[in-house]
Amino acid sequence: MAALLSVSDLHVSFQTYAGKVYAVNGMTFDIQPGEIFGLVGESGCGKSVTSLAILRILPGHGRITRGEIAFDGRDLTQLSEREMQPIRGRQIAMIFQDPSTSLNPVFSVGNQITRIIRHHMGYSSQAANQRALELFSKVALPDPKRIFTTYPHELSGGMQQRVMIALALASGARLLIADEPTTALDVTIQDQILELLVELRQREGLSILLITHNLGVVAETCDKVGVAYAGKIVEIGPTSWVLHQRQHPYTEGLLAALPSPRQKGQDLLSIPGSVPDGLSVIPGCPFHLRCPHVMEVCRHSEPGMAAAAGSVDDQHRVSCYLYSSEVVR
Ligand SMILES: Nc1ncnc2c1ncn2[C@@H]1O[C@H](COP(=O)(O)OP(=O)(O)OP(=O)(O)O)[C@@H](O)[C@H]1O
Ligand SMILES: [Mg+2]
Repeated sequence: MAALLSVSDLHVSFQTYAGKVYAVNGMTFDIQPGEIFGLVGESGCGKSVTSLAILRILPGHGRITRGEIAFDGRDLTQLSEREMQPIRGRQIAMIFQDPSTSLNPVFSVGNQITRIIRHHMGYSSQAANQRALELFSKVALPDPKRIFTTYPHELSGGMQQRVMIALALASGARLLIADEPTTALDVTIQDQILELLVELRQREGLSILLITHNLGVVAETCDKVGVAYAGKIVEIGPTSWVLHQRQHPYTEGLLAALPSPRQKGQDLLSIPGSVPDGLSVIPGCPFHLRCPHVMEVCRHSEPGMAAAAGSVDDQHRVSCYLYSSEVVR
């Protein structure tokens, strides 16, 4: 099957007063139609910048310097602003951590969604109202007729996020980018929103790029996962393989930092050191400064991506010299 989105060797940098920030450094992953792909990694690993690059909404001083973003066979990096406009919203929609900042406070949610339906689908006002109520039911908002007339501030965070997802469906988007969509919500509401995303993938065939720093969320939701470090993927594959047969020491560190019921009351383990600030290019493997298994080769030569041991069809891939047969340890 052809991928719906194929990001390859993406590089993004920002010109800042402190110097050039290398935010994304060779990001590569595919998302198939109807697939939920999780992009995980600590703060500053380039997850959000990657999503902004896909929609070509990087802040003014951000530049895509290399790589391709093929969406439905077209390279988005090569499109003009005019060619990008119908893709944003209509083909690729995005939801963020705090839905209240994405909704317009002065219009009722019914008004906001019907405007999108009429604009994208050319429906009459009556048909758009009907469609809006259908979409509100689809995202399991209780009492759609009442919700239609409410203003964003009258809704809870979880309900606002459901409205945002309904807005994404209203435009007929095929890819939904969800950047930490549940981080700001209560735990029980988080689960409900994640369940909704899984359901929509099944019912509507929606592809989802789910950005999160939480591997627990990935385990519950994603078909595939890419673990990002310093702006590139260091381990990728079907979720259960990456989580249960993890190979990269960074993935291992992230998993060790996950809270478990047994650890209650104990301090969480975290990976010593911090994510590089992107102001300089780290020679060798970007993780070598924090890696408990660092070898001499890791300090000066960057490992390429290779199939993980035991991987079926090379789907589970890792970039680490610990698993490279060419290196004598
Ligand atoms: N507007 C900007 N100007 C300069 N540097 C930026 C800008 N936005 C992001 N960066 C830098 O790019 C790198 C990647 O940032 P990004 O926001 O993509 O991280 P993230 O993985 O989404 O982290 P988080 O989990 O905290 O959301 C960081 O080093 C960050 O400081
Ligand atoms: Mg982010």
